[in-house]
Amino acid sequence: MGSSSVRRAAVSAKTRSRGAHGTMILPSMLMFGVIVASSGLLLMIEKGILAEVKAPPLHPSRGGLSWRGPGSGKAAASAPEDTDHQVLQDIRNRTIHAVCGQKNMPRSIWDLSAGQRRTVLKHILVSDKHRFLYCYVPKVACSNWKRILKVLDGVLENVNVKLKMDHKRDLVFLSDMKPEEIRYRLNHYFKFIFVRDPMERLLSAYRNKFGEIKEYQLKYGVEIVKRYRKNPGKSSGDDITFSEFLRYLLDEDVERMNEHWMPIYNLCQPCAVRYDFIGSYERLNEDANYVLERVQAPSFVRFPERQSWYNPVTRETLHYYLCNSPKGLTKELLPKYILDFSLFAYPLPNISSEFCRQ
Ligand SMILES: *[C@@H]1O[C@H](CO)[C@@H](O)[C@H](O)[C@H]1NC(C)=O
Ligand SMILES: *[C@@H]1O[C@H](CO)[C@@H](O)[C@H](O)[C@H]1NC(C)=O
Repeated sequence: MGSSSVRRAAVSAKTRSRGAHGTMILPSMLMFGVIVASSGLLLMIEKGILAEVKAPPLHPSRGGLSWRGPGSGKAAASAPEDTDHQVLQDIRNRTIHAVCGQKNMPRSIWDLSAGQRRTVLKHILVSDKHRFLYCYVPKVACSNWKRILKVLDGVLENVNVKLKMDHKRDLVFLSDMKPEEIRYRLNHYFKFIFVRDPMERLLSAYRNKFGEIKEYQLKYGVEIVKRYRKNPGKSSGDDITFSEFLRYLLDEDVERMNEHWMPIYNLCQPCAVRYDFIGSYERLNEDANYVLERVQAPSFVRFPERQSWYNPVTRETLHYYLCNSPKGLTKELLPKYILDFSLFAYPLPNISSEFCRQ
């Protein structure tokens, strides 16, 4: 029941996104239903109905932002980390099975439209030497993984080489291969992705691209100002607000978005590609080192440590940005990312006025 509502939600989110700029196609009642349904699914997951386990703490560190009711927090405090992690993996696994098992969901990449298939194949990196496939998601440590692939292939000496990352050179993508080569690798290689809280990922993309990258300011920023600012004045696209960015996302078609804000679902197609492992940004180093062991990487290859200048998006930053954006905007945007929230078991953000007052 929960899963079919999720599918409907995804379908309506897609329909909604075809609308002309600014027109509301999805009626607010339906939108409300979508949000309730997805949180219902999450609640069900949390109560262990889907997972058949006792109330699993989803993300022990996120506190008030989760949908967890009062009282169930006790389990989180005493449960050792590893159990939490196994439970989370199990929840994701079961949710993906339940949602992807629905009618009309793609079973393989050949069920996808040509455009959808092109997107996912372009995002899957291949290591023939270590027999794995990695679907990269921008803003989820993908540069580090690309470095690792280059080190494994011997074109880069070590992962810490200070060098501007070339995101294409010396890398092999599934899209470079013939159908039978693709099929073989999908069937026989170890496949993994890394996921992140959808809203944190969006905020990270916003802060990085519009705060620091001239190309993005000119290509997207200028356009966003033109479309959504009442008195645009003279803007070089470097001053767009998070609300303007959210407003823009609302009008974009998920299948045509820039990869930095395209939903993970559309980038990596977790129904069409049965990933063997889903790592989390929230426990990046442990999950990454698990994968490195699993693919038998030589022991000198370790996941790069965070750079000292690195300024991550924290819960507090996200809280600040979301609470300072129009609540309706966030609510309207959630259905577009609902499969990322539900498949990867991330709680919807709490944007209630009580929470924002804290
Ligand atoms: C999910 O469970 C199936 C068996 O039920 C297993 O084969 C698969 O590896 C698991 N996948 C993940 C991502 O844990
Ligand atoms: C949101 O936060 C408020 C204040 O902390 C809390 O009362 C409320 O139950 C939370 N809502 C959800 C859905 O978690």
